[in-house]
Formats: sequence, C-alpha cells, structure tokens
Amino acid sequence: MITKEQWVEFAASRRSTRDFTNKPVDNAIIDELITDALTAPSWSNTRPFVVAVATGEKRDRIAAEFLRRWDALSAARTGGPLAKLKLLITRVGLPTSNRMITRPYQGVFKTRSQKVGRELYSMLGVERGDAKGRDAQWRKNYDFFGAPVELFIFTHKSIGKYAASDASLFMQNLILGAHARGLGTCAQGAVAIWEDAVKAEFDVPAGYQLLYGVALGYPSDAKVNTFKAERLPVSDIKLS
Ligand SMILES: Cc1cc2nc3c(=O)[nH]c(=O)nc-3n(C[C@H](O)[C@H](O)[C@H](O)COP(=O)(O)O)c2cc1C
Repeated sequence: MITKEQWVEFAASRRSTRDFTNKPVDNAIIDELITDALTAPSWSNTRPFVVAVATGEKRDRIAAEFLRRWDALSAARTGGPLAKLKLLITRVGLPTSNRMITRPYQGVFKTRSQKVGRELYSMLGVERGDAKGRDAQWRKNYDFFGAPVELFIFTHKSIGKYAASDASLFMQNLILGAHARGLGTCAQGAVAIWEDAVKAEFDVPAGYQLLYGVALGYPSDAKVNTFKAERLPVSDIKLS
C-alpha cells in the first residue's frame, strides 16, 4: 500500500502532456494499462465503453485526415469571407459529430476556460488576439501532440450520461497508471468532432459514439509540459 502522503503527491504531480517523444509504447504496456484501468467502478458492472487503440500506420492515417480537416476549418476561421464560403461549399472541416463542444462556454465555465487558455498561450508566447498563433497551437491536437498512441473512447448510447461517467472513471485510472509508469497523457475533446474519421479505421460495434481521445506516450522536455493549470479552492465547488 502507498501512504496517504505518497498518494497526495502522486495525484497532484500528474499534468496533461502536450508534447511527446516518438518512443513507441509497447503493446504489452498498453494492455497492462487497460487491465489496471478496468479496476474502476462501473454502473451495474456494465462497462458501457470500448477503446480503439491507434498506433503505427493507423494512427498516422487518422492524424493525416484530422490535419487535412483542421487546416480547412482553420483557413475559414482565420480567413476572409471567401475562405468561409469555401468551407460552407466543400464542408471539409465542419464538425461531423459532437457539435455541442464547439459552442461557447457559459458563465463561470467561460471564465475558467478563458483563464487556462490565456495562461497556456501566454507561456507559449502566443499573443492575445493572435488567432493564427492559437490555431497553430490547437492544430497539434490533431497530430496527438506527437504521441505514438491515441486512445479513442467510445460509450454506448443506451446508458446515457452514466456511460460517460464509467468511461471517465476508467480513463482516470488509465491516466494515473500511465503516470505511474513515466508515461504522459492528454485527454482530447478536440478529436471528438470527427468521429467518422475514427470509425473508418476501426470496427466500432453499433450503438457506440466517440466521447473523446487520449494521447499516450513518453513526455518530451518541451516547455509546454511544465504548464500548471490552476486548481480551484474547495470553496468554489463545495455547497453548504
Ligand atoms: C474530457 C477532457 C477533454 C479535454 N480536451 C482537451 C483538448 O482537446 N486539448 C487539450 O489540449 N487539452 C484537453 N484537455 C485537458 C484539459 O485542458 C486539462 O486537463 C486541464 O486544463 C487541467 O490541466 P491538467 O490536466 O494539466 O491538470 C481535456 C481534458 C478533459 C478531461
């Protein structure tokens, strides 16, 4: 058993990794991570999720397709009316799934997300209002920040929001298991907007939909990996 102090230090030392080395992750390690992650609790032990593991050529094909779509979308986002018209005509780059994640955040969620974005981009030297600079950084999501493995998490529609809850308990276990082995991870909602590109590469059973991706690999020593997102005080979420 680990001590309480060891657990507190371990949990607090995990951070999202946004730059990876190209060192591959052994298949045996990936299976170990999934086995350990399956010790998480689950609604009636249903485990209503599947994980598509993209490595090698499959990973590269999905990244190439994502980058093609992102470049088309970004050109429209940062370009003039003609570029926007092109997006509407060709439709290449428009979200094909989970459109709700492209909508603006509301209230306090907007404040918190703007704060983390501002701090991350400022650390990377991207000026406020530099839409192209921000898009260039966000683009890295679509190459999985250079990670050799991307895990795509699918949940079953029939269990509703509890499927997402179960999948995320599993993923948090996996993320911490990776951290314990010196591996880095970054959860990626960004990849959920093009579920069709992932489904084209895997036999995803009927009824499953893409929740998010998780980049997995060995962290590089890039500055972005030293970024420390703020933690909220207990009083911000605890109701009395
Ligand atoms: C479901 C989920 C989706 C996320 N999507 C993205 C993403 O698309 N791109 C990204 O860079 N970070 C993404 N993140 C990482 C969060 O920005 C990060 O967890 C948060 O800022 C706290 O930082 P930390 O993970 O370093 O503690 C996501 C996190 C979660 C839980």
